[in-house]
Amino acid sequence: MRIALASGDGIGPEIMDATLDLLRAAGGLQGIDLVPVEMGKSVFDRGETRGMTDAAIATVESCGLLLKGPMETPKGGGGKSINVTARKIWNAFANLRHFCTLPGVMTPYSRSGISVDFFIVRENIEDTYGGIEHRLSNDVVQCKRLISAPGSDAVHRFAFETARRLGIRKVHCGHKANIMKMTDGLFLERFKAVAADYPEIETADVIVDALCMNLVMKPQQYRMIVLPNLQGDIVSDLAAGLVGGLGFAPSANIGNHISIFEAVHGTAPDIAGKGIANPCSLILSTIMLMRHIGNMGTAARLENALLASLEQGVRTGDFGDAAKPALGTMEFVKQVAQRLGQKPTLGPAVPDASDHVTFKPPVKPFASAAVHTFGSRDTRVVGADVYLDASEGVATLAPALESLTTGTPWKLTLISNRGTQVWPTGSVYTDCVDYWRARFERRADAGEVGQAQTLALLQTIANRYTICSYELLRTFDGKPGFSMAQGQ
Ligand code: NAI
Repeated sequence: MRIALASGDGIGPEIMDATLDLLRAAGGLQGIDLVPVEMGKSVFDRGETRGMTDAAIATVESCGLLLKGPMETPKGGGGKSINVTARKIWNAFANLRHFCTLPGVMTPYSRSGISVDFFIVRENIEDTYGGIEHRLSNDVVQCKRLISAPGSDAVHRFAFETARRLGIRKVHCGHKANIMKMTDGLFLERFKAVAADYPEIETADVIVDALCMNLVMKPQQYRMIVLPNLQGDIVSDLAAGLVGGLGFAPSANIGNHISIFEAVHGTAPDIAGKGIANPCSLILSTIMLMRHIGNMGTAARLENALLASLEQGVRTGDFGDAAKPALGTMEFVKQVAQRLGQKPTLGPAVPDASDHVTFKPPVKPFASAAVHTFGSRDTRVVGADVYLDASEGVATLAPALESLTTGTPWKLTLISNRGTQVWPTGSVYTDCVDYWRARFERRADAGEVGQAQTLALLQTIANRYTICSYELLRTFDGKPGFSMAQGQ
């Protein structure tokens, strides 16, 4: 068994050394080779925009497991977040986080006797995290938000499988399908479709803004919530706040081939090098890693020792009872290591188990897999949305565009600005920016049309306007594959 190891930047090496000392003391490294890999700031500084070397990539791919500390993301410039890159290139599609009240970690909830214990499964590779962004005009930029049926299926199935394994009886889907009817609508639709394979698990859906309020008001009503990427990211940090902060939130990024276990907090540059960082998040993530590979005994020993330590007031400076001494990172894990074999007394202990490695290193696929949910549909081209960079007002734009459709199969049916209809009808209260959508639909008397006719229309429009992009309007088995404008 080989696990790729990237200590990270800032406090990363401090909490990683401490965590590995503890893991070694718990006997969790028997039969495991830790293989250091180069990832993070030092690699970015050498001009490698992925933030990881080819050798690091090859090692992670052959191990199938990566334990990582936090890594600095270069601000601005070409360097993308290494965390997002790693999840995406290795298809670690589900981000599993556990939020649980811990003894000795004071929060408004623990003080009120409210026990928090739930999981968030966040879709990890789609949504706005594609980072597909463009400047469209002087004043407008966009980020494309892609949600796919196979991507949604994968994360929902993972959530239900995890719920089944953990004995969780209710799974919620968080979403914003009331506004983003097609993208979040698909995410929710696939949640319901996948749920049908898990009849013993109750399901419900909740709009993400209400979910945030519910989590603050009554967090104990949730056991597992599955969410799209960006919403899942935000709700995860809210959830971390319920149990004492990011220092106590572990994270596993699970893929079919490669999985990444990491602390969710950042590099904490303000305390780096001082030896005072709280290693709990990385310890808890390592416990998830042990469970992932089948080392249930090690995971139970570690978790029980950590819980017993927290109960007894063992703490770093960022949490706990100020009357008890604040320990440095290494002293904290030393104290936890001394409690290996102990069980918590104030809450339930994790049942003893034995280590039985079930994880098998992945076999590298020959090529990217093509994944599908729906078979081929009957699609028809019925129009095109053409996006224009134009500084004139709609009163000029509309007749000009209409005149360009003369003698074509197309009719201008709608102009919208920032998604709000401004022509043929609109409100004088709608402010318009310099980026427009013009919708052209097939005239009733036109014959069959296809993509070629939309391209001919684009050619005509391009003689007069800058076209930023266009989207085909198609029906799928007779149903429109496009949304209406606000106010239409
Ligand atoms: P941060 O999480 O590093 O720090 C926020 C605050 O929390 C700071 O006051 C810090 O001292 C404290 N803190 C964080 N972890 C702690 C710990 N284990 N023990 C005690 N206190 C702790 O967030 P920030 O400042 O926004 O980001 C710093 C850098 O980390 C950035 O370059 C960012 O891109 C990167 N980052 C990396 C992540 C990762 O690798 N998964 C996640 C989040 C941020």
